[in-house]
Amino acid sequence: METRRWQHPPVCSAPILSEVLSVCICNPYMRRCKMAIALLVACFVLYTCLGHIPSSLGVILRTTDKIVWANEFEPIELTCLIESISTNNPRIEWKKIKNGVPSYVYFQNKIAGDLEHRAQLREPANILIFNTTRSDTAEYRCEVAAIDDQRDFDEILISLAVRVKPVVPRCSVPEAVTVGTSTELRCLENEGFPAPQYRWFHNDEELPQDPKTNLKFVNSSYSINPDTGGLKFRRVRKEDAGEYYCQAKNDAGYAQCSPQMMEIYDVDILGIFLKAFGALIVFACLVAAICHSFRRGCFHKKGHNENNYNWPAQSSGVDYGDADEGHFRHKSSFII
Ligand SMILES: *[C@@H]1O[C@H](CO)[C@@H](O)[C@H](O)[C@H]1NC(C)=O
Ligand SMILES: *[C@@H]1O[C@H](CO)[C@@H](O)[C@H](O)[C@H]1NC(C)=O
Repeated sequence: METRRWQHPPVCSAPILSEVLSVCICNPYMRRCKMAIALLVACFVLYTCLGHIPSSLGVILRTTDKIVWANEFEPIELTCLIESISTNNPRIEWKKIKNGVPSYVYFQNKIAGDLEHRAQLREPANILIFNTTRSDTAEYRCEVAAIDDQRDFDEILISLAVRVKPVVPRCSVPEAVTVGTSTELRCLENEGFPAPQYRWFHNDEELPQDPKTNLKFVNSSYSINPDTGGLKFRRVRKEDAGEYYCQAKNDAGYAQCSPQMMEIYDVDILGIFLKAFGALIVFACLVAAICHSFRRGCFHKKGHNENNYNWPAQSSGVDYGDADEGHFRHKSSFII
């Protein structure tokens, strides 16, 4: 980032103006005096137009950017411009405020704390960070105390946000999908700042966010959510098969996962028919078996009853037989 420092035009500086005007005091009708007065007017107009009338009333600070974005591992300069000051050696301090906690980064004419060995102070009171890191994201306050000025203190707050390049995202692509079913491919990256946007590629060709905008994908049923990284198919087609990869991108850069194959299988009608037929046969056998056993069970029960009905007759016959036999034996023994 380039920093612009506003400087007094040298001819308008107080020593030069007072010198040229002193000529007028000695000799008000000289040509040089007219030129001096013209210069004075020109300087006044210049300052008025730019809104930079220097005031010796006190210290006034200004910055070119109150919100600064930097890329990680790149240099950045936070500007603290001294608009007006009369004190020769003002006291300059910089503080870093992270999560509401202030700490010194420039104190007693030295870089301190987090930025030690990583930054330097540059005229007039700018701070240059050589190699920003994500931990430098914070608010920075430039404070200038000028004891000889009427208004002897001013401060300016600058917020620095360090962009972080995304790392390789985690991608999940199903290996095999059946035609006509729905599926979702996912992509996630957590390091990048600000949060990255996601794009998907099919056989090295970027999928337009809306398939309707490209003749090649007009029949595809996918939708992409660039914020979450999801690539959803409502109904996959044979043509959706191929290699997929995803790219996570923010202002600091991009990263992508390696391509993964997604295969699409036809619906196997014969297989489904055979499976259904097989299931039907198993079901029929089951039903037949249940019916058969139920019927057998009924007969068995019936037969049992019949037996029961027969039983007394049979048993009584046997009993009687036995009894008769015993009886006979008894009788016969009795007789004998
Ligand atoms: C900045 O810092 C990182 C790590 O702290 C380092 O890898 C990189 O080389 C540095 N870059 C420069 C330009 O010094
Ligand atoms: C899209 O579908 C229409 C109608 O079914 C067909 O005519 C056209 O060729 C298809 N386009 C592509 C690119 O497959």
